[in-house]
Amino acid sequence: MNLLPYHQLTDFTTEVFQSRGVPESRARTAADALVYGDLVGMRSHGLANLTRLYLPLFESGRVAPAAEPEVLADRGAAVLLDSRKGLGLWAAAEAMDLAVERAGQYGIGMVSVRDATHLGCAGFHAARAVDSGMVGLVASNCGRQRIARPPGGSVAMLGTNPLAAAAPAGPGQAPFVLDMSTTVAPTGKVREAARAGKPIPEGWLQDAEGRWVTDPHALDRGEAFPLFLGGHPETGGYKGYGLALLVEVLAALVPGAGLGPDPDAYAGTGGPSGRDDDIGFFVLAVAPAALRPEQDFTGQAAGLFAALTGSPTLPGTDRVAYPGCREADLRAAALAEGVPVADPLLDELRAVADDLGLKLPEGDRDDR
Ligand SMILES: NC(=O)c1ccc[n+]([C@@H]2O[C@H](COP(=O)([O-])OP(=O)(O)OC[C@H]3O[C@@H](n4cnc5c(N)ncnc54)[C@H](O)[C@@H]3O)[C@@H](O)[C@H]2O)c1
Repeated sequence: MNLLPYHQLTDFTTEVFQSRGVPESRARTAADALVYGDLVGMRSHGLANLTRLYLPLFESGRVAPAAEPEVLADRGAAVLLDSRKGLGLWAAAEAMDLAVERAGQYGIGMVSVRDATHLGCAGFHAARAVDSGMVGLVASNCGRQRIARPPGGSVAMLGTNPLAAAAPAGPGQAPFVLDMSTTVAPTGKVREAARAGKPIPEGWLQDAEGRWVTDPHALDRGEAFPLFLGGHPETGGYKGYGLALLVEVLAALVPGAGLGPDPDAYAGTGGPSGRDDDIGFFVLAVAPAALRPEQDFTGQAAGLFAALTGSPTLPGTDRVAYPGCREADLRAAALAEGVPVADPLLDELRAVADDLGLKLPEGDRDDR
């Protein structure tokens, strides 16, 4: 593993986005959002997606580099934006910043976005609310992409529809950041396994007949479907599916973005169909300080999360953690020692640097 200095890595990534016509401050936000994946250990949605997802989106014109979002409705606490194919990595961050600003005025701010593109890690955007002492919620549908089947259904209807929530956890404690796909695993993790030449666990993908698939390559061959969280109906599959539908409603139906479910899909093979264009976002900020003294909220939050981390463990477990703990630890280590970048990804980044005449930061080796 190579350890690359965080700030130089984000500078490099900023320059890559700038080379595609993204204005500097937005390119920087997009770089922060993308490198966040590598910083906090969500590598399936980090720099690995630069050459696989984002650069091709620019090349095919599916992202508008200099897009300026248009305000379609502004009711103070609720705003509807047309992102005009802006890069989701910065567009979702700006939507959260606007939601936070409105929550500062009204106690709550909701920004609904249509015609956006892939936002990367939803948690990056949700966590921005925590910097202002607020609770953040971010959901994104996958536009018209259909890869996951409803329980009992034979035709793919929805995407992996990510959902994230973040909240302050009091001084000195990692913020609560729940950040997840509403399928058991996002496609990025399946592709990560495919690149590493490793099988995936049973429970992530099923074939058309409902048998487990452990070959990760089957996903991109169109021969396997991600299962919603919970898996089968008996083990809670309707809950994951219901969450994915909630994301579809909040993130796409509310703003009028592209929807997954489509009767035309019935006529196909049942396999994957549609593209993740015209993605919708649901971005919400809640300001507890608008309702009661901020220190009361913060003090109680500190108690809540400390009660969890201080609670007794089972044998073999060091501590009870909550979503956000793992990410905070990995982030602190990566800021101190460098961001972990595996050799194949380093080669890809080097090729991008050579192509654009940019300098990729030097890293240290860590072969522990
Ligand atoms: N943009 C998109 O279309 C899209 C689609 C799907 C997923 N994603 C992103 O993919 C990323 C990965 O999603 P995922 O579902 O694989 O996440 P994951 O399974 O790695 O983690 C899910 C949640 O569980 C928590 N968690 C897991 N292990 C933990 C532990 N040991 N201790 C404490 N908390 C723990 C994490 O903090 C996280 O909040 C996310 O950033 C998500 O937003 C994006």
